[in-house]
Amino acid sequence: LAQVPLFHKAPARALEIVSEAVQPRTFDADTVLFREGDRGEVLYILHKGTVKLFKIDLEGHEKTLAILKPPEFFGEMALLGEGGRSATAVCLRETHVYLLFKDDFERLLREYPSISLNVANTLSQRLRGMGDEAQVLSYKDAQGRVAYVILRLYWGGHIDFGETGHALLRLTHQELASLAGTSRETVTRALKALEEEGVISTRPKEVLIKDPDGLEEILHGVR
Ligand code: CMP
Repeated sequence: LAQVPLFHKAPARALEIVSEAVQPRTFDADTVLFREGDRGEVLYILHKGTVKLFKIDLEGHEKTLAILKPPEFFGEMALLGEGGRSATAVCLRETHVYLLFKDDFERLLREYPSISLNVANTLSQRLRGMGDEAQVLSYKDAQGRVAYVILRLYWGGHIDFGETGHALLRLTHQELASLAGTSRETVTRALKALEEEGVISTRPKEVLIKDPDGLEEILHGVR
């Protein structure tokens, strides 16, 4: 629990309270934890697994907001202020979480300023990320947008290392499209163009990142 950004620099006593209050749960892959608009009563602390947060736009397209892995937490927004869940959460693989209920969360926020500060820091980081993303997704061409989502996953540590030692993203074109806010066909074309630039190579459900600096140059339009 001490690794979770929510409890960064929190006193030992706060961690004791948390470990007594939380309830462990395990969910299978594809379990929907909650849907956008639901009333929120609980915060989720990721212990193992991967969770995708997404929204459905007016045309019915899914837009992925984030893919989270331990030691991150989510589901705090509906517990703060008015409004229900701001997005739908689905487990991408078997996922272990600790549930922290609203009353306990509120008590921790009131009694431990370091925890309140951590929540504010996380919200600020997410807001900054969304601002950057909005800029990229509204001004960049398909290649730049796809370069951006690949780099974001790479920076976020959502990678494995293949036999060649290159960073490997295990995602379908549809999943990349949902992150880039575009269609699968557009992603396929953009990946091909990036492959021709020599910065990535692709295999079914895999993108091998050969040159992250080159991707960044493409993103910033200096290549
Ligand atoms: P809540 O609104 O309760 O439920 C959905 C959760 O998704 C939300 O709390 C946040 O924890 C998380 N979330 C929403 N938007 C983002 C984002 N842009 N980046 C990361 N996490 C998010």
